[in-house]
Amino acid sequence: MTPLLEIKDLSIDYRGGRGRRTTAVDDVSFSLSKGESLGLVGESGSGKSTIGAAIMGLLPGNAEITSGQILFNGEDLLRIDAERLRQMRWKHVAMIFQAAMNALNPIHRVGDQIVEAIRVHEPDTTPEDARARVSTLFEQMGIALERLGHFPHQYSGGMRQRAIIAMALACNPQLVIADEPTTALDVIVQDQILKTIRALQQKLSIGIVFISHDIAVVADVCHHVAVMYAGQIVEIGPSAEVFATPGHPYTRMLLGAHITLADEGGKLTDAVCRIADTAVSASACRFAPRCPHATSQCTQTAPQWIRQGDNHWIRCAMTTEGKPCPPQP
Ligand SMILES: Nc1ncnc2c1ncn2[C@@H]1O[C@H](COP(=O)(O)OP(=O)(O)O)[C@@H](O)[C@H]1O
Ligand SMILES: [Mg+2]
Repeated sequence: MTPLLEIKDLSIDYRGGRGRRTTAVDDVSFSLSKGESLGLVGESGSGKSTIGAAIMGLLPGNAEITSGQILFNGEDLLRIDAERLRQMRWKHVAMIFQAAMNALNPIHRVGDQIVEAIRVHEPDTTPEDARARVSTLFEQMGIALERLGHFPHQYSGGMRQRAIIAMALACNPQLVIADEPTTALDVIVQDQILKTIRALQQKLSIGIVFISHDIAVVADVCHHVAVMYAGQIVEIGPSAEVFATPGHPYTRMLLGAHITLADEGGKLTDAVCRIADTAVSASACRFAPRCPHATSQCTQTAPQWIRQGDNHWIRCAMTTEGKPCPPQP
């Protein structure tokens, strides 16, 4: 069966001043079946949002896709015409951003905005039908119906984010890209919204690419996880398996960091999230400078994909015995 989304060998550069180029996404591949969720997790700057924007066709002007395909139901979004892409966007593929970046229009009632969004994409829907659909969505998102007539500033942050999610789901998309959708919210609200997303994802059988710097959030929501480091996927597999038996030293570091910090009542912060040095040669592991197991081989050999289990892979420069790095104690 054709996957809902299949990303093949995707590489994306950003052009900077004086001919400088940064490779933000390097040879990324993954696929997602209908109704499944995949978490893209990694530190700030690892290329997650760039992948999300590429799927949505919303990359900034200085970005250049240097290779790859983004197949949605088998159709390459990078090669279809602009008009068709516009039709697909929001109707079939929707995106939820971090709350702070979202612009619910402040001068229109929230319910009206979502009705309008439906009618733009589905002109044949009557206003009554669109209203009924928005009411159902509000119920599903746990927002009281009287809120339909309120303005965004009358909503709390968590409620606004629920409304934004309702707007993304309004046209029954098959695929939703959620980029740090709960990061700006406090932990309790975040937890409630994640539960709602998970429940709706199952009920409506939506495919979700869930982007987060927080590996615990991804574990909660997603069937599959892809761990990114400096533009590359370094581990990919079923969430339960990756969390139970993480293979890549970086995944273990992320999990370890989370457990320690979570116990202290905190979360992974940017302070521990600095990408060391992405300007390493293609024939070296990018994580080697931070890897507790790195040997000289890791800076001289391109990392290979090593199978860890069913659909569970890590990208690691192997030890000389041909085995992946030993687990951390
Ligand atoms: N508009 C841009 N112009 C130039 N470089 C960018 C731009 N957006 C992102 N980058 C760079 O691309 C890399 C990946 O960024 P991003 O995809 O935002 O990562 P993440 O979402 O994982 O934090 C980073 O090194 C970042 O500095
Ligand atoms: Mg991002």
